[in-house]
Amino acid sequence: MNEPTDYRFYGRRRGRPLNPGRRRALDTVLPALLLPDGPLDPAALFGFDIEDLWLEIGFGAGEHLAWQAARRPRVGFIGAEPYINGAASLAARADAEGLANLRIHCDDATPVLDRLPGRALGRVFILFPDPWPKARHRHRRIVARPLLDRLARTMREGAELRVATDHGGYLDWMLERLTAHSAFAWTAASADDWRQRPADWPETRYEAKARMAGVKSTYLRFIRRQAVAIPVV
Ligand SMILES: C[S@@+](CC[C@H](N)C(=O)[O-])C[C@H]1O[C@@H](n2cnc3c(N)ncnc32)[C@H](O)[C@@H]1O
Repeated sequence: MNEPTDYRFYGRRRGRPLNPGRRRALDTVLPALLLPDGPLDPAALFGFDIEDLWLEIGFGAGEHLAWQAARRPRVGFIGAEPYINGAASLAARADAEGLANLRIHCDDATPVLDRLPGRALGRVFILFPDPWPKARHRHRRIVARPLLDRLARTMREGAELRVATDHGGYLDWMLERLTAHSAFAWTAASADDWRQRPADWPETRYEAKARMAGVKSTYLRFIRRQAVAIPVV
């Protein structure tokens, strides 16, 4: 099967009815956290000067993103998650923890990347993206050339891309595409680098489920390479 030339979202946006706390967070907290429409100016997204901009794609219930945001109050964070229950959960967490450095996009992450200026991002997390294990669904995987090209444009040189999976087939798929992409360099020097989760990377809900089912996860860190200048002759 030929890979699609652009990404299309296939996941779910709605789940079980929200509990009252999350309903309230969705109605009263989330609106103030939403990204503005149109082109995004990182310097104008928060009410203060940020020292960097980090993005989490598919934050699930938001525990990893909230953890990072709480520890890096001068970094601005954008989280993109189409599943509305997840966005409600993160909004409730942001409210409870008083996180002022967080903006949420309740939908597919790819239009957010298209609205950001080049080299805007210093770090990107894609933790346990949907593995779409059936052969006929693999074209739905988000870690593929269309997304990597968007990241190559929006991540500045030296920026870090963190990706994790518990699915062996998706791991091979991601490694094949990431190592083939000229913009990214894998940082791993030894097996521990992909077998051990770094200390500044808390466990996600999806990862905890995999661990409890006896499945090991893999942690990948790639660096956005320097753009190579083509000499004019
Ligand atoms: C398997 S879950 C993992 C959630 C979380 N990262 C974790 O580790 O617990 C994958 C998440 O990616 C989200 N997702 C799927 N496609 C997406 C897209 N195009 N943009 C942003 N999020 C997406 C899904 O809604 C889902 O919540």
